[in-house]
Amino acid sequence: MKVDKIFIASDHAGFEVKEQIKELLMGKFQVVDLGCDSKDISVDYPDFSHKMAQNLQKDDDFGILICGTGIGISIAANRHKNVRCALCHDVSTAKLSREHNNANVIAFGARVVGLSVIIDMLDAFFNTQFAGGRHQNRVEKINFGD
Ligand code: RB5
Repeated sequence: MKVDKIFIASDHAGFEVKEQIKELLMGKFQVVDLGCDSKDISVDYPDFSHKMAQNLQKDDDFGILICGTGIGISIAANRHKNVRCALCHDVSTAKLSREHNNANVIAFGARVVGLSVIIDMLDAFFNTQFAGGRHQNRVEKINFGD
């Protein structure tokens, strides 16, 4: 799978995990950190979801969003039409979010998933192609309205 840039963002609850996985990914990919910058200053997760959506410009751009549960930050990200953000908890959901849903952003919760599972999920996410075929039409139907 072709990956140009990986944007990464978190709120304060996800900050430490963001820093850890950023280090791991930087050896393999171009990684752009969109914040936040501290675990000690409370911030609002939607601000980082919106920043992610603004930065995802190309088909080969991908994103990683982290908050305490992954729930808030993924809900807010999915309000944007250029985002298909999958809240994942294990390798199967991470893999299928690419294969079936062509997810361009993976979200997870730093307070609910351990680091080794997170690393395995990222490996699955960034090494799985969208299957297309019957899934293409379904993905195209996700956006509606204006
Ligand atoms: C922050 O305390 C927490 O609410 C946030 O990280 C996230 O879990 C929200 O969905």
